[in-house]
Amino acid sequence: MDLGPTIGHIKDYIGQDVTMNGWLYNRRGSKKIQFLQFRDGSGIVQACVFKGEASDEIFQTASELTQESSITLTGKVVKDDRSPIGAEIHVSDITVHTLANDYPIAIADQNPNPDFLLSNRHLWIRSRKQHALLRVRAYVVNRLRNWLDDHDFTLTDTPIFTPNACEGTSTLFEVNYNDDTKAYLSQSGQLYGEAAAQAFGKIYCFGPTFRAEKSSTRKHLREFWMLEPEIAYASIEDVMDVEEQMVSDVVQDVLKNRRAELELLEADIDMLSNVKAPFKRLHYLEAVEIIRGHGVEMEDMDDFGAPQEEALMKEFNAPVFVHRFPTAIKAFYMARDPEDERFTLSADLMAGNGVEICGGGARCWDLEWLESQIDSHQLKQEDFKWYLDLRRYGGQPSAGFGLGLERFVGWITGVKHVRECIPFPRTLKRINP
Ligand code: 4AD
Ligand code: MG
Repeated sequence: MDLGPTIGHIKDYIGQDVTMNGWLYNRRGSKKIQFLQFRDGSGIVQACVFKGEASDEIFQTASELTQESSITLTGKVVKDDRSPIGAEIHVSDITVHTLANDYPIAIADQNPNPDFLLSNRHLWIRSRKQHALLRVRAYVVNRLRNWLDDHDFTLTDTPIFTPNACEGTSTLFEVNYNDDTKAYLSQSGQLYGEAAAQAFGKIYCFGPTFRAEKSSTRKHLREFWMLEPEIAYASIEDVMDVEEQMVSDVVQDVLKNRRAELELLEADIDMLSNVKAPFKRLHYLEAVEIIRGHGVEMEDMDDFGAPQEEALMKEFNAPVFVHRFPTAIKAFYMARDPEDERFTLSADLMAGNGVEICGGGARCWDLEWLESQIDSHQLKQEDFKWYLDLRRYGGQPSAGFGLGLERFVGWITGVKHVRECIPFPRTLKRINP
């Protein structure tokens, strides 16, 4: 299959005449020459229209082109060492499909109004930085999947309509499934992942995840993508080993193969170069001590909020695990630490920017304790009948984690807000476009 030359592979066409379909990104010019910034989705190239070389009619067409007009260009690819892509096009012909009128978000990368840009997200994704960011996202997805496939994890897709909560009832989205059944949009594929791990050993699921988050912070989406590996017979330490190896391998891969995008986004290249396993591991109590040492108060055995997470990460410009959070603040399925049952065998991976990018740990396989936890979390036993079967039939230690894709991409690229790290964000106040 050959869909023709693209800007992404333009260097292969130096000296040749090419025809390319795309859109006008920007234009400047004089009476003698028009410089068109032409984009085709794979990149942006400078296309020059010289008066005298191109016909008068084509030159006139070029000088009237507006941003985001759709065009087909024909011209010669010429080597150009000053260009970031090493080539430019000398245009001989232009066909205009639609002349765009008053493109609303001209020079989007310099437009400071996030709300306006988000309302125009369907157009904003064409702009240089958003384009680079979403290309990094696509690459990260591919590398994460490949990493797990290469390490013998079996992809097991988990359902989006679910009959029960996984991560607590306060963030459930309820839907009418049929006349007499309510369902919830999945908060996590984990419980199904545990079933799959008993069938396949090492599995992962990767899909859209829904949380009716009441908070609108830079870390929260209502719909995000979560990668969830699950490993039968693994311990919490095994799972941290997998996380740190996967995260560092993927970061180094992105650094190597999406360097131009990272530089355009002004990502912290030095910080990323130093992301190498093993990562530091702090017990919850050690983390609390560091947080308090920075003058940020917190109750004993309480969860971390943004001020605590940011205080903790002041010490580190690298990912750090915090493990063994108190039982009272964690989900019903967490295994307890046999050394001190006030704590769970849980582990969160905090990125250097103070954002939790992964959460996970060991699963409880003590049937009685699990049943009591279902009660104390005010969940219904009958909803978890199938899940408890996993303990009855071949119950065993098991562990896994969930990586939030948008938070991971935001940390790698240095983009502060997760809403830019997904093509069409769903946040508390926004479902459009
Ligand atoms: O820590 P969480 O809630 O863990 C779970 O859901 C486990 N069941 C995962 C598992 O063990 N299989 O979520 C995991 C990750 C978080 O660390 C975060 O990166 C991301 O999912 N996340 C969100 N990302 C964006 N918006 C939200 N509202 C998020 N909530 C969680
Ligand atoms: Mg968490």
